[in-house]
Amino acid sequence: MVLTLVPIVFYFSLWNIFYYPLFYTKYYIPTLFSVVVFIPFLMFVINRIFFKNSIVEILSAVIGIIFTILIFMLLAAYLSKLVYFTIEAFPYILIILIIIAIIVFIRREAFDKRTKLILAGVISFVIICAFVFGVFNFQPVFYDTKAAVYMVEDEYQICWSTSTTTAGYIEIAGEQYYDSYAGALNCSTLHKVTIPKEILDTNKNYKIVSYGVSHNRAYYPIRTSTISKDYTFRPINYDDGIQIYNISDNHLYRTGPQRAASYFGDKLDLLIANGDHVNDVSEDWQIKNMYRLVGNITNGSVPVILSRGNHEAAGSQLVELPQWYASRDNTFYYTVRVGDIAFIVLDMGNLEKDARKTQKYVGDFNHYREEEAEWLRGIYESGVMNDPSIKYRIAVCHVAFPLNIKKYGGEAARKMMEYLELMNIDFMMAGHSHATVVFEPHSTYSLDGKEKDTNEADFPVILGSIRNDENMRYETLFGYQFTGTAIEIKDGDIELMFTNSLGEIKEYHKF
Ligand SMILES: [Fe+2]
Repeated sequence: MVLTLVPIVFYFSLWNIFYYPLFYTKYYIPTLFSVVVFIPFLMFVINRIFFKNSIVEILSAVIGIIFTILIFMLLAAYLSKLVYFTIEAFPYILIILIIIAIIVFIRREAFDKRTKLILAGVISFVIICAFVFGVFNFQPVFYDTKAAVYMVEDEYQICWSTSTTTAGYIEIAGEQYYDSYAGALNCSTLHKVTIPKEILDTNKNYKIVSYGVSHNRAYYPIRTSTISKDYTFRPINYDDGIQIYNISDNHLYRTGPQRAASYFGDKLDLLIANGDHVNDVSEDWQIKNMYRLVGNITNGSVPVILSRGNHEAAGSQLVELPQWYASRDNTFYYTVRVGDIAFIVLDMGNLEKDARKTQKYVGDFNHYREEEAEWLRGIYESGVMNDPSIKYRIAVCHVAFPLNIKKYGGEAARKMMEYLELMNIDFMMAGHSHATVVFEPHSTYSLDGKEKDTNEADFPVILGSIRNDENMRYETLFGYQFTGTAIEIKDGDIELMFTNSLGEIKEYHKF
């Protein structure tokens, strides 16, 4: 009986968490689930009173367990941990299954000779595979994501990923650009090569070449097969104005943002990937997920401005992130020039004070933000933003810090906002709050109907992404719905549209 009651208790104790994401996925889901969740318990009670069938009793318990697992999966989806539980946990589940199989095999005297032989064969095969693929790392070499071309200052940083450990380079017009550090090739599944901007803009083609390095042991590295892939690159086309699409906060989900970002079709000039594409930076697959998102949208042909979200500022592999992400001198703040537009890309890091529990012992973000404010002061004082060839100035930052300076970065953030004001920023493109809202300068708006945010800046701040096609404030539970921001700059106008995964314009603004 307890097993049939667990899903009811579990579901209703999470009601406050579930209600809105379920409601905005489909309005009838919370009610439907509230009824369905009683099925195993009702089965149990009705069977006990009328039928007393032991199979039905076992079935009700099994359904109770299945419902509990499904509710757990819903919770994982809501916490953006679904992929973590399903993909990340897979090797551990496999190991547990192998151990169970071996124990069953050893202990069960009842098995006849033929069954024992089959089981012994299966277990031996698994162990051989574990040695070949795991210990000796002999694995098929293929590209498991498309390439992503990031723009940073006056260079392109091309990132790609392979199925197993590889070394490699990019070839443009017969010239090779290796992924190497101080003479050593980077043997990894994740790669980044920096190319001067004018070289790729002129040649418009690049080829990625990779070869497997199954063992990178001192004096005896083992090389396996070589693969390559050709890409055509489409430098920004100024003829019909500039078409930019901005996405953020997809938290591993890709379907919705990929569809929404296809709004401009082949006319897309630039993608802004504005952070929180993952939940943390601890494993290669998380970075691959981000490459996959960006690669699927751009096909490795359209340049990307990548900004770091607070979720890309947590995790055990954070120190390596500059090697995998668009970065400048081991930071994630930089400028990009695109025709008559100057972008200033900023990074609030993990948002929180270093003393906070989640960052204690491993964060130095207070200093990082102070150094960033100093860097921005340098940009302002250098006068580069006054260049007469610059017509538009756009700040890109995952966190819309002018909406809550005290919470988002404190004094360093205030300084940054003031330098941006002095540089006459047209607007700031941001995300983080999972909503699509244009905050006019010094305007106040409530995202949740309770707490109010005020834009302290004298430039508009735009929150540009949400996992929903219809409602622009509340998210759905899964990732197939998405609204992002289409930006078109032409003939002296900046047009901004929130467009959803169905290609519909939900809101239109002109600056
Ligand atoms: Fe965020």
